[in-house]
Amino acid sequence: MSNLSRAARGMFTGVLAAAGIALSAVAGHASAQTPQQAIQFRKGAMQVQGWHVRSLVQMVKGQRPFDAAVYLRAVTMLDALAGSTLEGFTPGSETGETRAAPDVFKDPAAFRAAVERFQGETRKAVAVARSGDEKAMRAEVGELVKACDSCHERFRTK
Ligand code: HEC
Repeated sequence: MSNLSRAARGMFTGVLAAAGIALSAVAGHASAQTPQQAIQFRKGAMQVQGWHVRSLVQMVKGQRPFDAAVYLRAVTMLDALAGSTLEGFTPGSETGETRAAPDVFKDPAAFRAAVERFQGETRKAVAVARSGDEKAMRAEVGELVKACDSCHERFRTK
């Protein structure tokens, strides 16, 4: 084998190895990460949700000007984050620095249902924002907050 083809073969193997890592990362997705990372991810995602919900609540309360573009951006972010909620609650992440209630893991069907309700609400919020109906947009903020609170009531410890 010439040095050149040996080098090419080495490169090819390297590419395969890199692709293999990438593929297994996709196949195993979130569960390939550690429970500690899952807890950090879900808390971080929740904090970002809190940021956007506060902006919306401030608009409704008149503590900042109502801005349809800011509203649409906030609910679009919430919708994207809602879509990744389940990713953060991986097996093994029941313990550690977490306030996730035991029910998240003991009754995964109920938790999934709560996540799906929340996703339905964020989808609705995006549709309402796109409609441009300010009155409906203001009312929808209350529904979003309710969706957050109702899940916390059962699935987050004090
Ligand atoms: C389907 C259930 C569910 C929904 C919906 C939900 N949360 Fe949470 N939230 C949780 C759980 C469970 C925790 C505890 C996470 C942990 O400590 O590991 C949490 C934690 C939090 C925290 C604390 C994060 C931290 O740093 O400890 C904030 C803030 C928060 N949620 C905000 C929100 C907001 C705002 C919404 C709505 C836009 C929302 N959540 C919707 C389940 C939910």
